[in-house]
Amino acid sequence: MINKKVEIALNEQVEKEGYSSSLYLAMASWAEVKGMPGIAKWLYIQSDEERFHMLKLVKFINERGGKAVIPDFKQPGSEFPSVKIMFEEVLKHEQFISASINDIVAVCIAEKDYTTQQWLQWFVNEQIEEETNAMQILDKLHLLGDGSLYLFDHDIMSLRNDAGNSSEAQGG
Ligand SMILES: [Fe+2]
Ligand SMILES: [Fe+2]
Repeated sequence: MINKKVEIALNEQVEKEGYSSSLYLAMASWAEVKGMPGIAKWLYIQSDEERFHMLKLVKFINERGGKAVIPDFKQPGSEFPSVKIMFEEVLKHEQFISASINDIVAVCIAEKDYTTQQWLQWFVNEQIEEETNAMQILDKLHLLGDGSLYLFDHDIMSLRNDAGNSSEAQGG
């Protein structure tokens, strides 16, 4: 049976991953409307991955004898000042998620729930990758300065560390 405090923390993470999925979907839609199909594709895949993270949590909570609760997700913005500012928001959001995962690990340790702590290691590693991806994109955008986004939009998919490795990447 899952520890109650751990269950609460995991359910809060369900909300955060679901919001992440909505946020990246909003960004994808914005980029698509602005005529940037590459950036939109990257974000649509990212949105799918966040939904997968949410599902992974839902299934784990339920399998461990808890009860996953699907909450309302806050509505993300629909306008972004620029591609660079949008990806700065992506990085900031991923850093927030990493901190949140670390907080859950701390709850697991305090509650001596080493099974869940071990299981969360997948998320810890995933967050390293997510932050690296966002930082690499921002590095490219800084190099580009005020240059045209045409080539960046064309190349962004090649910046995915997981390009070709996941079904999401192929299906998106
Ligand atoms: Fe995530
Ligand atoms: Fe993420």
